[in-house]
Amino acid sequence: METASLERTNLYDQQLKILRRIGEIMGLDGDIVESLSIPERVIQVKVQLKGDTIKTFIGWRSQHNSALGPYKGGIRFHPQVTKEEVIALSMIMTWKNSIMGLPFGGGKGGLRIDPSVLTLPETERVIREYVAQMYKYMGGDFDVPAPDLNTDGQIMAWAVDEYIRLTGKNDFSSFTGKPTELNGISTRSFSTGLGVAEVTKIYAEKFMGGIEGKRIAIHGFGNVGYNSAKFLQEMGGKVVAISDVNGGILDWNGLDVGKVKEFSDRYKTVKDFPAKQISNEELLTLDVDILIPASIEGVINAMNAHSVKAKLIVEGANGPISVKADEILKKRGVIIIPDIIANAGGVIGSYVEWANNKIGGIIEEEEVKRIIRNKMREAMGRVMKTTEKYESDYRTAAMINAVDRVVKSAKLRM
Ligand SMILES: NC(=O)c1ccc[n+]([C@@H]2O[C@H](COP(=O)([O-])OP(=O)(O)OC[C@H]3O[C@@H](n4cnc5c(N)ncnc54)[C@H](O)[C@@H]3O)[C@@H](O)[C@H]2O)c1
Repeated sequence: METASLERTNLYDQQLKILRRIGEIMGLDGDIVESLSIPERVIQVKVQLKGDTIKTFIGWRSQHNSALGPYKGGIRFHPQVTKEEVIALSMIMTWKNSIMGLPFGGGKGGLRIDPSVLTLPETERVIREYVAQMYKYMGGDFDVPAPDLNTDGQIMAWAVDEYIRLTGKNDFSSFTGKPTELNGISTRSFSTGLGVAEVTKIYAEKFMGGIEGKRIAIHGFGNVGYNSAKFLQEMGGKVVAISDVNGGILDWNGLDVGKVKEFSDRYKTVKDFPAKQISNEELLTLDVDILIPASIEGVINAMNAHSVKAKLIVEGANGPISVKADEILKKRGVIIIPDIIANAGGVIGSYVEWANNKIGGIIEEEEVKRIIRNKMREAMGRVMKTTEKYESDYRTAAMINAVDRVVKSAKLRM
């Protein structure tokens, strides 16, 4: 049986397969494909917390490709993170930054640690130690981490402070996702959701007669799910179903996203909100126009892909559709806007934060939103053209664009 966890362990293999397939479609030289499959640098760190006992943790930073600029990608804390996973994620960041037209390469960091067993002072010591081991390979001109799974603005604040302390340089561009008080940007909490809503609208305008009144189901109601729902509703979409880990709710006349959010803030779940109660499985197979998986990876898999009725799926989460499900949905003519575009609003926001810090700017929120929308529209334009040229799906077209830009810039530098 196909399971998400099994697929997750093979993330690096999957990425290599995808790269080879794209290389073949593009007619790329085998040497180039081989070169892109190997990260430029992988740094291993040993982080120790010394007290009555010594706790030792292992971590990595994979710097996959810098043809387009400094490495960029998050740092995650997770008890099961592996070196291969970090490398695969850094490759994905190379493609994501490339397709979005950002001046960044791809990087990713991971520390094998269970954050739930750490006290706050221990978390601070851990991230400071990670930076102390790594700072010679970091910085606004070299490698720019951001928050990821189980890391946040406070952790970035400690990280940037440690970096500044060790280097003596007030380089706030060395980390993004910082609190606004530390030269972060105010859109941080909703950049990704805004981007998801924007790509959905762009596609709907071109191929579905507009976003107004389109029935939308949202799987996952955290940062990405809530903000996607909020912006889509503001754009005129009809959010009919929402779920979280505890279950889902449905109202064919449209849910009031603001009210669902108030309920969910209060009761820590959307379950039991006054609407029809449905399961997560039911939500995924509702007869809606647009489905937005915004929870975890692999929720649409070989088991349920045949029953999905949405015409458009926008991947708010990373990897919500398994490889097998992707094939099934493609055959059935379902359009999928892939994660590397759909949820790139966050990294565009990170780019703005980095650029703003580099010039010592004081950028306004409306300007950040405008940049996120524009970058989404440009990327979708490029990908739509490529789908026509190669008669391909959006995931393939996005990868072709991403690899092409990296290869072209690498060749120019040779
Ligand atoms: N936050 C960002 O800026 C960002 C950027 C890019 C990609 N992503 C990806 O988007 C996804 C969601 O991230 P987030 O920041 O919104 O997370 P989050 O923790 O804020 O929210 C996750 C939501 O998914 C729900 N959920 C978890 N497991 C579920 C399950 N089995 N079935 C149904 N619902 C489930 C949770 O209840 C919660 O509502 C992740 O894949 C993440 O990697 C997030």
